[in-house]
Amino acid sequence: MVDVILGLQWGDEGKGKIADFLTPQYDIVARFQGGPNAGHSLEFEGKKFVLNTIPSGIFRKGILNIIGNGVVVDPIRLLAEIDRIKDECPDYAERLLVSKKAHLILPTHRILDAASEASKGDAKIGSTLRGIGPTYRDKTGRSGLRIGDALEADFIDRYKQTVEMHLTQIASLGYTQFNLQEEETAFFAALEDLKKLQLVNSEYLINEAIQQGKKILAEGAQGSMLDVEFGSYPFVTSSTTLAGGVCSGLGVAPKQIRKVYGIFKSYCTRVGGGPFPTELNDDMGELLRKKGHEFGATTGRPRRTGWLDMVALKYTCMLNGVDELIMMKSDVMCDIPEVKAATSYTIHGEETNQVPANLCSTDVLPNYRTFTGFGAHLDHSGGFDALPDSFKDYITFIEENLNTPIRVISLGPERDKTIVRNK
Ligand code: GDP
Ligand code: IMO
Ligand code: MG
Repeated sequence: MVDVILGLQWGDEGKGKIADFLTPQYDIVARFQGGPNAGHSLEFEGKKFVLNTIPSGIFRKGILNIIGNGVVVDPIRLLAEIDRIKDECPDYAERLLVSKKAHLILPTHRILDAASEASKGDAKIGSTLRGIGPTYRDKTGRSGLRIGDALEADFIDRYKQTVEMHLTQIASLGYTQFNLQEEETAFFAALEDLKKLQLVNSEYLINEAIQQGKKILAEGAQGSMLDVEFGSYPFVTSSTTLAGGVCSGLGVAPKQIRKVYGIFKSYCTRVGGGPFPTELNDDMGELLRKKGHEFGATTGRPRRTGWLDMVALKYTCMLNGVDELIMMKSDVMCDIPEVKAATSYTIHGEETNQVPANLCSTDVLPNYRTFTGFGAHLDHSGGFDALPDSFKDYITFIEENLNTPIRVISLGPERDKTIVRNK
């Protein structure tokens, strides 16, 4: 049985915290897409970690963690990540498995990412520059290199061919600011270390685990509005971030998926370029950024902030078939006298509840409902019943609008600042 946890907005919803929180209910935690563009933060016992490629179950004893075939892996970043966790998880090598089918991010993929962004000028995507787009492009273009390929005799020849092709592309973009030799030295050293990890046919391993009645948590990266198919294209990432991506990204059949948990912040953030209908380019936006520490976990970039967008949230609940909602970071909204949520858009004078096909080229005017602020304190310690009525009104509004229960409420970055509702 596979449950899925994924972001319903533009990423950074708090997937790392909640995946770690839920892990004790599972035997395996698996990443199914994305790569080191992700930055998943976890806090417990006074310690803080940011994971990029490693699943967020790694800190729980006895849990297997799988980097699935749908993930793209940069050996340099993965090894740096292992370095950050190895004192906390001395047994990581026994519990971290990597699919042989996961594609490798090569140094020239990263350079291509930078070259492509530089060539776009103001129209750049605002990518994390981790080489994600070029690696997925080679994957679907059938010229990518997989981790398992690094074990084959002809790997170096194939690597050289690929790099030659990349260098032509980089030259055609007029990009020269790189030192490939330096990057390649680091890459091949890290690749040798990566080969010492458990490289597996993870689709067999996962399906055998399912047959044995084990429970698997599939941990999404990015968010549904960054999905390559249904996100705010072209300002998206290059993978399927939706629940549907679990099947191809891990090799499990749709019927094995039991429950989909959708995570959202009680406001919105976005990092990088692209449309953001409820964006607040004012003092309130700045306040949310400051109070919510809205700076990228991977890149440190300031995140754009705005009110909750129910039109987008309803869309992504639909696309993912969300069974239960998890609401994050409402504590950030303490002391704000009035809270707003967009309930519809006006487009060309017409009110609509749908996200337009081309959000980028459409003038969208959000229509807001205003709520009384939640007061000075929102604290997990008294449980749900002790929460202020104004906050409960906000919760009821969201649940009724999305026709989906909010099962978990997170009121702080730490593992234990979490309320689970058993209705
Ligand atoms: P992810 O990419 O979805 O895992 O999210 P990130 O880790 O990039 O960003 C979420 C940020 O919010 C991190 O800094 C978390 O430590 C923090 N965080 C998570 N949940 C809460 C919460 O309920 N309240 C507050 N104030 N911070 C939270
Ligand atoms: P987590 O898992 C927020 C954004 C980038 C950029 C776009 C494309 O931490 O939620 P890419 O490097 O993927 O080609 O960038 O997607 N982006 C994220 N934004 N959280 C993430 O991951 C993101 N991963 C990519 O900022 O706009
Ligand atoms: Mg993040």
